[in-house]
Amino acid sequence: MSTAISPTAYNYKVVRQFAIMTVVWGILGMGMGVFIASQLVWPELNFGLPWTSFGRLRPLHTNLVIFAFGGCALFATSYYVVQRTCQTRLISDSLAAFTFWGWQAVIVAAGITLPLGYTSTKEYAELEWPIDILLGIVWVTYAAVFFGTVIKRKTKHIYVGNWFYGAFIVVTAMLHIVNSMEMPVSLFKSYSLYSGATDAMIQWWYGHNAVGFFLTTGFLGMMYYFVPKQAERPIYSYRLSIVHFWALITLYIWAGPHHLHYTALPDWAQSLGMAMSIILLAPSWGGMINGMMTLSGAWHKLRTDPILRFLVVSLAFYGMSTFEGPMMAIKTVNALSHYTDWTIGHVHAGALGWVAMISIGALYHMIPKLYGRAQMHSVGLINAHFWLATIGTVLYIASMWVNGITQGLMWRAINEDGTLTYSFVEALQASQPGFVVRAIGGAFFASGMLLMAYNTFRTVRASKPAEVEAAAVITAGAH
Ligand code: HEM
Ligand code: HEM
Repeated sequence: MSTAISPTAYNYKVVRQFAIMTVVWGILGMGMGVFIASQLVWPELNFGLPWTSFGRLRPLHTNLVIFAFGGCALFATSYYVVQRTCQTRLISDSLAAFTFWGWQAVIVAAGITLPLGYTSTKEYAELEWPIDILLGIVWVTYAAVFFGTVIKRKTKHIYVGNWFYGAFIVVTAMLHIVNSMEMPVSLFKSYSLYSGATDAMIQWWYGHNAVGFFLTTGFLGMMYYFVPKQAERPIYSYRLSIVHFWALITLYIWAGPHHLHYTALPDWAQSLGMAMSIILLAPSWGGMINGMMTLSGAWHKLRTDPILRFLVVSLAFYGMSTFEGPMMAIKTVNALSHYTDWTIGHVHAGALGWVAMISIGALYHMIPKLYGRAQMHSVGLINAHFWLATIGTVLYIASMWVNGITQGLMWRAINEDGTLTYSFVEALQASQPGFVVRAIGGAFFASGMLLMAYNTFRTVRASKPAEVEAAAVITAGAH
């Protein structure tokens, strides 16, 4: 394979490994999503066992989709993009291989410990301290491989996609290290070094920037490479991309307190978080517009190219969720939306519509190239996948909007004598149809991933070793 052939070839082996695991973890993580969505419809699926209860499987779902599926997609594409745009091989094959195996080890450890109930209790940072340390080591190695490769680049300037990947790598390290400061009391139990409102503030500084830098900035790096590539057009405005970059990274970091409205957090901090979240609309939409407008003169390609459809629809969902987010950050709106399924709908508009769709589009672009094929085994299957994903996302988020607003309004309804109009269980009963629709939407989305797995399998199986080797050769000037 390519690692053995020549120092003038790209290291595609690690890219292929991460790309295949993106599909595998995508199926498992989304399958777990469908399972927990079904538990909310049929509680019997908890099986009366602690290991299979909703409370333990929910963080397993979030870890699998964000860090396993999303993480592998980011590793795969960043290693691909940094090599091609810097016209050079990764700085070290063995360090890159370590990031692959180390990352898979973190995920497997999460898969074992979370159902067993080992948790730090911090959302999106549930893993206990030994796994946190492994994760930290893998991440610092990733930074060394990525930035080392940028430093030894053969090109003069650093393509903007790498700026976004670079910021995502640096800030994720900072978030993980600061939020995971904890005191171990046994092999699988630790306590946070922070307490009370400070702990909450640090946790949501982490949580929101996990959204901002892991689920957004990294995927914008993907957008800046794969949208122009697939559209065969230069990025709409390079100047806008630079403004977009600096505005996004300076503003995101302040918005965390919108997760803590009406809590013990000082009121001024809540209002600051709200104001910064509203301002965040501008760079978010700047990025979306830059991606969308790249299609100027190439819109007709959408008729025949389902990969481009994935990429463009992901940008539409990105725009939608980054409009919705600032609205939800307004305190009076949050008073209605917080604790309801509206938040869950918002999350998945971003997670399914943006993160998953752009990753899927990028993988369909990349997989044939990694295996020396002209295109995926079946374009028809990509198209079927596109519709399953789009319809699935719409069913998911629309049902959660209906549920969220219903719940919020029922909880706050008050009779003339000041007593509550509805009991909690009545609001739950009213949510039942929405839960069913969400499970169906999720099943649509997850079944699309099965089509992707089959299509990938056939593409990989059809490739010949010589084609695979030739694919990795560095051609000067070809990004
Ligand atoms: C087939 C697709 C999916 C289904 C059916 C699904 C289902 C679910 C369900 C039922 C929950 C728990 C909701 C609750 O507690 O009321 C959840 C939470 C969550 N999911 Fe998914 N999910 C899917 C895909 C994804 C993907 C691809 C991502 C990320 C890239 C994601 C990220 C999350 C996050 C972050 C939460 C926690 C939300 C919060 O705490 O507010 N999900 N999902
Ligand atoms: C300008 C951009 C955005 C802003 C201002 C924003 C704002 C918000 C707000 C106000 C909440 C509700 C907090 C609460 O009531 O507890 C929220 C929740 C959330 N958002 Fe966003 N959002 C943005 C974009 C996104 C995107 C693009 C994604 C996903 C890719 C995303 C993922 C999430 C997640 C996972 C949560 C749930 C956190 C939790 O409670 O577990 N957001 N966001």
